[in-house]
Amino acid sequence: MNAGVVARRPLIAGNWKMHKTIAEARTLARELCALALPPQIDVVVAPPFTALAAVADELKGSRIALAAQTMHDFAHGPYTGEVSAPMLVEIGVRYVIIGHSERRAFCGESDDAVNRKVRSALANGIVPIVAVGETASEHELGETHAKVTLQTRAAFADVATDDIARCVVAYEPIWAIGTGLVDSPENASAVIAQIRACVDGLAHARILYGGSMKGDNASALMAMPQIDGGLIGGASLTAPAFAAVIDGARAKASAT
Ligand code: 13P
Repeated sequence: MNAGVVARRPLIAGNWKMHKTIAEARTLARELCALALPPQIDVVVAPPFTALAAVADELKGSRIALAAQTMHDFAHGPYTGEVSAPMLVEIGVRYVIIGHSERRAFCGESDDAVNRKVRSALANGIVPIVAVGETASEHELGETHAKVTLQTRAAFADVATDDIARCVVAYEPIWAIGTGLVDSPENASAVIAQIRACVDGLAHARILYGGSMKGDNASALMAMPQIDGGLIGGASLTAPAFAAVIDGARAKASAT
């Protein structure tokens, strides 16, 4: 493995989605900074754009890293409403979620756009967290493997293997997002193994599970050798709920 590649340290990332005003985001960030975080676990939060600068300010001196929920692939230009990688770097953003199923569904984010964004993030020193996952009907039809393979290969097309190893992938079955229907650890682990195998470099990358992951199911998911962490929605919106997920990763952290 290349020296610049991060080992598969456990990573717990909170995707706050379209929640939290600046004041609310500051309060949550302050509460998270007060937690005793296990040193072996990387913790990331992704507030909405409006709260990024305020949360960056609150996180100064902590080991919680800042993520954005999306970005444009160009550095600047006539793209009303968009934000670019250099703008995020200036605020202190270190990770960016790319291709979340909500953006694919509601904002028409294509596999091509995901690939352009991944390359732009890497070129600007931001770690992409690439989200892939199948719908409920694809799941029922047994098309999960085909779907995640297609999305993953497209996301990393023309990306160097060493760079791919530095990226993060989040397997988020769409039917599990916000529904309480968490995937079984065995199934999530099997799909993640397929994701790792479909692109060179992903064997060394961190691959997370996302979809109704909470304090009461985190340790079973994290016990699977293929699962390096979680991308958490609902349970990242309060400090006690997020702390419970991080607690679920402790056993894994002491094993790494
Ligand atoms: P929930 O944890 O609310 O199911 O959301 C998962 C998710 O979409 C994280 O990106």
